[in-house]
Amino acid sequence: MISNDLLLRCLNGDETERDPVWFMRQAGRYLPDYMKLKERYDFFERVRNPELATEITVMPVDQVGVDAAILFSDILVISQALGHEVNMVPGKGPVIDNPIKNTAQVEAEDPSRTEEELAYAIPTIQAVKEGLSNRVPLIGFCGAPWTLLCYMVEGKGSKDFASARAFCLHETEAAHLMLQKITDSSIIYLKMQIEGGVDALQVFDSWAGLLDKRMYNEFALPYIKQMVEAIKKEVPTIVFARGAWNSLKELADCGPQALGLDWCTDPDYARSLVGDDIVLQGNLDPAVLLGNPATVARETRVMMNRFGKGKHIINLGHGVLPQTKVEAAKAFVQTAKDYYFEL
Ligand code: CP3
Repeated sequence: MISNDLLLRCLNGDETERDPVWFMRQAGRYLPDYMKLKERYDFFERVRNPELATEITVMPVDQVGVDAAILFSDILVISQALGHEVNMVPGKGPVIDNPIKNTAQVEAEDPSRTEEELAYAIPTIQAVKEGLSNRVPLIGFCGAPWTLLCYMVEGKGSKDFASARAFCLHETEAAHLMLQKITDSSIIYLKMQIEGGVDALQVFDSWAGLLDKRMYNEFALPYIKQMVEAIKKEVPTIVFARGAWNSLKELADCGPQALGLDWCTDPDYARSLVGDDIVLQGNLDPAVLLGNPATVARETRVMMNRFGKGKHIINLGHGVLPQTKVEAAKAFVQTAKDYYFEL
């Protein structure tokens, strides 16, 4: 049905003529046409309005030529599902009201309203699928529970989320209850995305690297495992845990079809831990895309050589930087598409 289904064949473990390419945070952030929409509409209006979400999601497919689309939304919709107000403040980032400080607050959190709060997601995804008209697969997504807990305890962005780490260390029981409520809400939302028609799902654990191995084992992995187990039989699943080089084997054991690597993780090292079966995704340093197209092409080839052909989804090692030029993004995608045919 989907005319370019490279990503899905790769996730299925099939041999493909070339490795698929897309990149994290491709929908929004740097495309000039997105910046124009950003001036006119509030962030969550863009997320909730099917026409706007479709326009933004399809933009990088049309303008940069990626092999997959990722739904325009945000990981913090789960905080909204749990009843918190979230504001994207220009120049500051997200601000979440009523940050979690104690057990009583955690007990009052209610995942059962998720379907109602995020009801717009199903018609929005259906509209996006229609807008893509079966050209490339659509990736849905969710934040991992630990990363969500970071924002919900801190109430905003942070370099180290010390308050969330302290919450896990000192209010351990409340932290587990909160992580479970986030997981329950996320699983409901992931299933809604599947109902809407997403073809694959990615879980973003952007702050995985803030926990040592023991804490990652206790506060992150069991919840990621529940999420992956709930969805992986319905649609293929990618887990991207930034900085989790210490826990790659354990993440692979959670059962996703693919693992994303950040740019500091050596592909050979990752392979040696996780074996040959799982697909790896990544991992060009997003800062490479701040250079000229020739440098981008050279560095993309170096990265592709390190992974080797097959069982690889070509991507960045984290989200594309807002100051990236369209020419650099195009050079990345074009090099990824052409390289093996030039050899
Ligand atoms: O890939 C895509 O572009 C699809 C949409 C998407 C957004 N956020 C839109 C967005 C996705 C996949 C995300 C994921 C997300 N959101 C993560 C995980 C990935 C990562 O980058 O680590 C995290 C940690 C968030 C939380 C968040 N949302 C932050 C920290 C910020 C502010 C700074 C930033 O990263 O841009 C946001 C706001 C946000 N989410 C913007 C966009 C396009 C920028 C605000 C705007 O354009 O109005």
